[in-house]
Amino acid sequence: MKALILVGGFGTRLRPLTLSMPKPLVDFANKPMILHQIEALQAVGVKEVILAINYQPQVMVGFTEQFGALLGIKITCSQEFEPMGTAGPLALARDKLDDGSGKPFFVLNSDVISEYPLQKMIDFHKYHGGEVSIMVTKVDEPSKYGVVVLDEKTGEVQRFVEKPKSFVGNKINAGIYLLNPTVLDKIEMRPTSIEKEIFPKIAKERNLFAMVLPGFWMDVGQPRDYITGLKLYLGSLRTKAPDKLAAGVNIVGNVLIDKSAAIGAGCLIGPDVSIGQNCVIEDGVRLSHCAIMQGARVKKHACISGAIIGWHSTIGQWARVENMTVLGEDVHLSDEVYSNGGIVLPHKEIKNSIVKPEIVM
Ligand code: GDD
Ligand code: MG
Repeated sequence: MKALILVGGFGTRLRPLTLSMPKPLVDFANKPMILHQIEALQAVGVKEVILAINYQPQVMVGFTEQFGALLGIKITCSQEFEPMGTAGPLALARDKLDDGSGKPFFVLNSDVISEYPLQKMIDFHKYHGGEVSIMVTKVDEPSKYGVVVLDEKTGEVQRFVEKPKSFVGNKINAGIYLLNPTVLDKIEMRPTSIEKEIFPKIAKERNLFAMVLPGFWMDVGQPRDYITGLKLYLGSLRTKAPDKLAAGVNIVGNVLIDKSAAIGAGCLIGPDVSIGQNCVIEDGVRLSHCAIMQGARVKKHACISGAIIGWHSTIGQWARVENMTVLGEDVHLSDEVYSNGGIVLPHKEIKNSIVKPEIVM
């Protein structure tokens, strides 16, 4: 089987992290977001993953070489010269996706995190025999997603409305699809939205089926959702692979610590924290609800709660970082500084407190 992952878009809602790295390569739970998806695809027998890219192609090509070899899977790039939306990239990669076997292929949004029950989806696709299967999930705030109305018994989708202005339903498109190659005949070679132009049409033809995704789901393309997604992911790890989580008297709830990270004495860490490769957490640090990315250093007695600390940043001693602060790559917060929701662009030195949520350029 083959799969295409939509890797375009500028990831503006995840700035300043996406100023250093395309969104799919931003670490989530200590590995690039997209790696979670590639591993899940590989587990159900996908042999080739096509990344549909339109942004920082050189970085993505480097990634494909590094991880393709590591995982033993073929990863190729299909490059757009203008953003082709969420359907156009399928037309562009048509020759790669349709090998004449008639076998369905996966299409994934690159910024969603879930348990990826892809085998269940393959079974569901065979069962209903329609042209397209999509995963749906329930959310409290459906207006920022694609809303799906379906026949609860058969899964047949009756309506698909992208970002509805008024309430349509609370089941939304989870961004995980299985498509028969015949769909490619319906997509023109131009910027097109699969959600606005293709799915509503296939629903009308009664060929679009949805299954409710078991387990957790989150679009982690915005800082607050990223932190919520981390909590859900670690919660799921607790039931599926608890030995991957940290344990000890200094750990509260679910915490993921890379084995190369150094943790000082007298720290209190958790719940819902990820600490990446080569991070240094000095003595007496308090961390909760936060992601500390590769190479960052948190100095003595600093306190971080509700934040993403970008690669190779440092947090000074006695500093206090909270309220969805996001520090870009290589940001240095001086000792005793307070950040209340600061969004700090890469390579900055912060000497004064950020007392209310603001962007620091
Ligand atoms: N190659 C390519 N080219 N990829 C693109 C482009 C493009 O021009 N534009 C967006 N993408 C990719 C993004 O990187 C992301 O992986 C995916 O397509 C969806 O784009 P988002 O910008 O993240 O869309 P969204 O989050 O507002 O809405 C989508 O996801 C929701 C679930 O998270 C829709 O699919 C909704 O229906 C869905 O509910
Ligand atoms: Mg998204």
